[in-house]
Formats: sequence, structure tokens, C-alpha cells
Amino acid sequence: MKKLLVANWKMHYGPIKAGGWIRAFRRERLPKDVDISVAVPFVSLAAARASLGRASIPALAAQDCFWSEDGAYTGEISPGMLKEFGTEYCLVGHSERRSNLGETDEMVAKKAAAVQKAGIVPVICVGENEAQRKKGDASKIVRAQVQAAIGGLKADGRAPAAIAYEPVWAIGSGRPCSAQDAKQMHEVIRGVLLKKFGKASEEIRVIYGGSVDVRNISEYVTTTGIDGCLVGGASLDPRNFGLLCRAANPA
Ligand code: PGA
Repeated sequence: MKKLLVANWKMHYGPIKAGGWIRAFRRERLPKDVDISVAVPFVSLAAARASLGRASIPALAAQDCFWSEDGAYTGEISPGMLKEFGTEYCLVGHSERRSNLGETDEMVAKKAAAVQKAGIVPVICVGENEAQRKKGDASKIVRAQVQAAIGGLKADGRAPAAIAYEPVWAIGSGRPCSAQDAKQMHEVIRGVLLKKFGKASEEIRVIYGGSVDVRNISEYVTTTGIDGCLVGGASLDPRNFGLLCRAANPA
């Protein structure tokens, strides 16, 4: 399985800077056998697409999406709208949305199903917070989050989703989860996927996110069961993200 590397700019880079980032990143030497994507703010999708031209690397991703195709949902963006930009992936359920906007497992499940239906791969983000880990509840919490989020997905031959394990305490903290601890949680996640999708679950990538940088990325991508990374802070500089992409090349 090819590794998947997703840059998550979060709330950085409007259209002007987005175009610059894409152009600079396109000058990087990129490995062929890694799938590379960049999750940009909605308002920067058009600029990112324009700067990409016909190029398909990095694949465009959105950072969120609504669950209906159209209707009286002021301020929301539908999967079909994202598709118009050639968006290939869409983050759903990022912990910053769960905590800042009160996104629930139920909402995440509806979003993931709608995104898949539109032909976009949902990258479903899950992860326990610090208190939950201290209490020894991490696996239980993550298992429940994954079970809920994949409830509406269909096994339609293609990988129906990717899962990003992002322990909340590791995001933006400079305190990454060790590759061995991440591996353990990825096994828990794989168990849930296997139960729902059977053999087709083998196509689903389970990636790690949380303070991934140039010093630690190779540890993750060389650990069995970790199929790539979701990178926030370390992706803001296109050259740095280029470095990460090269480091993610298992060859
Ligand atoms: P970080 O963010 O790499 O800055 O920790 C990861 C994420 O939230 O996607």
C-alpha cells in the first residue's frame, strides 16, 4: 500500500498565499510512490487548483464539509461543491472542529458518508484527549469514534475512507505520540475496520497525525501499520513539506 501524506494548513493561507505555496511545492523533487495531498481552506481551493493547472500532485483536499448537497444551510459547503475543484480528499471530524465547534460523532458520520457518496475520500480524524489517555480509556474512546464515524460508509470496492489517528494531546504540542503507541492504536482501529468491511478494510489507510516533523517522520512511516501521516505545522513551509514527502518514501 502506498503511504499517504496529507498537509493540513488549518486556518492559514488565503488564495494569494495558497497559490504561492503550491507553486513552490511543485518545484520540490517528489517521490512517485507516495500519495501526497494538501488540505486547504475552502476559499483557497480555487487558487490552489489554478496554480496546479493540470498537475494532480499534490491532490487537493478540503478541511471540512457539510452533509447535505444543497439547501438552507447558510455558510456550509457541500461535497458536490468540493468536487468541482477536483478535490480528492476531505478531512472530517478534526479534533479542532470537535472541540471548537462541538462536532459530534453523529455529525462526523453524516459528513463522512456524504463525502464518500460524492466520490471524495473522507479522511476521518479520531483521537483521545490527555485526560482520557491518563485514565486508560484511549482505546475505548478511539474505537467508539471510529465505529460511529464509519457507520454510514459503503464498501464499494474502492477504499471508502482513510482514518487519521490524531491524539489530541499530540496535536501542535511538540509532544508526538511514539510510533509504538501509535501502532498499538492503529491495530485497534484496524480491528474496527475489519469487522465492518472485511477484506476490503485492507485498502483503508490508517495514518498518524500530531507533531510530525522532519526528525520523526521516518519512524512513523517505517512502522508496520502506519500508512502515512497528517502534518499540520510542519507543512506550512512548502520546502519543509517536500522534505517530509521525500522522507516518507519507503524505497
Ligand atoms: P500538527 O497538526 O502536525 O501541527 O501537530 C496535525 C493536525 O492537526 O492535523
